[in-house]
Amino acid sequence: MRYRIATIPGDGIGPDVVAEARKALEAVASVSGFELEFAEAMMGGAAIDATGEPLPETSLEICRRSDAVLLGAVGGPKWDGLPGDKRPEAGLLGLRAGLGAYANLRPARMFPELAASCPLRADIVAGGLDMLIVRELTGGIYFGQRGQDEGGDAAWDTERYSRAEVERLLAVAYGAARARGRRLCVVDKANVLESSRLWRRVAMETAALHPDVETSFMYVDNCAMQLVRNPRQFDVIATSNMFGDILSDEASMITGSIGMLASASVGGSGPGIFEPIHGSAPDIAGRDAANPLATILSAAMLLSYALNRKEEAALVEGAVAAVLAEGLRCADIASGAPAERVLGTRAMGEAVARKIREAAR
Ligand code: IPM
Ligand code: MG
Repeated sequence: MRYRIATIPGDGIGPDVVAEARKALEAVASVSGFELEFAEAMMGGAAIDATGEPLPETSLEICRRSDAVLLGAVGGPKWDGLPGDKRPEAGLLGLRAGLGAYANLRPARMFPELAASCPLRADIVAGGLDMLIVRELTGGIYFGQRGQDEGGDAAWDTERYSRAEVERLLAVAYGAARARGRRLCVVDKANVLESSRLWRRVAMETAALHPDVETSFMYVDNCAMQLVRNPRQFDVIATSNMFGDILSDEASMITGSIGMLASASVGGSGPGIFEPIHGSAPDIAGRDAANPLATILSAAMLLSYALNRKEEAALVEGAVAAVLAEGLRCADIASGAPAERVLGTRAMGEAVARKIREAAR
């Protein structure tokens, strides 16, 4: 069996972390007896510098012809002055829309080894944390009409959702809830926003079709508060593009570090996109200082969702847990305990790849 993976290193620490995730995938392929063919595509600031476009058509083509897309991160201060549709981030949004990847799965799980990195009181997270945010990814305010008045003293963005967009996102969320703890919390701002009232109406109808899953509703401001007050109440959260963007950063921090959280963007007819939820961290780019584990865990999601290689996905996740259990850390997840050893990006990637090979033996 041979799979084709498009890699988009992107900007900042993107190339650093994608290189390590690729090592993990190569290790898995070598022990599992399948072949991987990697095709690199340009996107974001790197693509702007090379071609003037954040997402050249050739990049989208490379992705469309692949079984999955492994992505690092895009953006950085160098391109901050560009108009919105020419920024690196426009490349990422174009990729998500271009591949129709409307459902973004963002698991927020706390590795027991990293409990010391969790900023919440130990009694609040006793028993661990394991939730999944299902974020709508190709609609809402990210893609609605926007503009500014002449002179630029007023500007607007539009949150618009259709019933069909909400329904298909909820279908993914219920599927995920059924495979997990069977509890789904739909997060909106239905006390203020018309678009949220649509979400709630559609979600209430959908809930009636899924009696085996316990559905609840929460306003987004309350959810932001509940995530730090009692995060263990959540199993699956389903929400809009922007609310999901914000809540997933919050959820990542309570699990220890944003440097640990993976994501899968799926749903379209095209290949899924697998990327860490963190940004491009330009300040530490190219310094062997970034934590590659979020991207390595995204590679595990790639194996599971895109290639249906569940065992191999578990192998990667197990290898990450094993290096953490050995006390290996990157700077963002180091607590200063004497048993820890702080590694750079490459050494961490190599440690995981080695564990994958050892575990398979
Ligand atoms: C994310 C990021 C992106 C988003 C940015 C880089 C456009 O924050 O994947 O969460 O807002 O979706
Ligand atoms: Mg974000």
